Amino acid sequence: MNLKIVKIGNPILRGKTSPIPAKRLASLSLKGLIKDMVSTMRHAQGVGLAANQVDQGLRVMVMECRGNKRYPRVASFPLQVYLNPKITHYSTRREKGWEGCLSIPGFRGLVPRSSKITFEALTLEGRKVRRTVSGFEARVVQHEVDHLNGFFYVDRMPDFRSWTHLEEFNRKYRLNIRDRRR
Ligand code: NI
Repeated sequence: MNLKIVKIGNPILRGKTSPIPAKRLASLSLKGLIKDMVSTMRHAQGVGLAANQVDQGLRVMVMECRGNKRYPRVASFPLQVYLNPKITHYSTRREKGWEGCLSIPGFRGLVPRSSKITFEALTLEGRKVRRTVSGFEARVVQHEVDHLNGFFYVDRMPDFRSWTHLEEFNRKYRLNIRDRRR
């Protein structure tokens, strides 16, 4: 089932999200939510989605990038589901890259992010994982963990002059990206 993606301005996107307790890991409701988050992300052609973007104040995120139409010139990564993610290390080296957000449709902005990060999380099976990722994948993890902490990419832009309407972004890069508005 595709869920409605809430937009910037909705208080849930600025609020706190709750960690998933160990006893909820096997619950059908959590599995159902994650299944719906994955289909919602794919339908909206997103590369990541945080639970509060579908109106659930829980520390759950999904991400995937395979031949993505909204991000055509980035490295792929497989579907991943993380509960209670926490970034434990940020590289001092940072790089600027374009980001959009399903909760702010129709815009892109240049955001500096650590080029490499380490994070810890639980899988849906309750296994604790620690991963080090770099490049676009590291950018997506930082973007989604930011959502779970009530931040948007626009909060991370030191210079708002790069903020670009998708129409102008498409013209600049000769692309034809469309963000879904629902
Ligand atoms: Ni976003």
